[in-house]
Amino acid sequence: MSKRMRRFHRLVSMVFMATVVFTAVALTVDASVVWVSYVPLLPLFVLMVTGITMWFRPKRRAATTQGTA
Ligand code: HEM
Repeated sequence: MSKRMRRFHRLVSMVFMATVVFTAVALTVDASVVWVSYVPLLPLFVLMVTGITMWFRPKRRAATTQGTA
């Protein structure tokens, strides 16, 4: 489950980077398509949700090694 989410997070991060480049190019070509600026927000939102989920649900290993100094 966590492994799949990590892969998904990584995949969406690549999609996000592609949309950022696409947006930069699109705005350079035609500055009037301001709505394009909002396109990367969709994958960024997915990254935020999967990222925060991973943040609060780390690998099981972390819970078992906690407090055993
Ligand atoms: C928006 C809020 C984000 C949060 C809260 C977040 C959170 C996290 C967390 C907690 C991990 C570690 C997962 C683990 O090691 O178990 C992680 C890994 C990663 N994040 Fe994010 N992230 C966010 C956005 C992004 C963005 C914008 C990118 C890049 C465009 C990105 C790319 C990655 C990559 C490549 C990894 C490594 C994945 C792997 O180990 O396979 N993240 N993120």
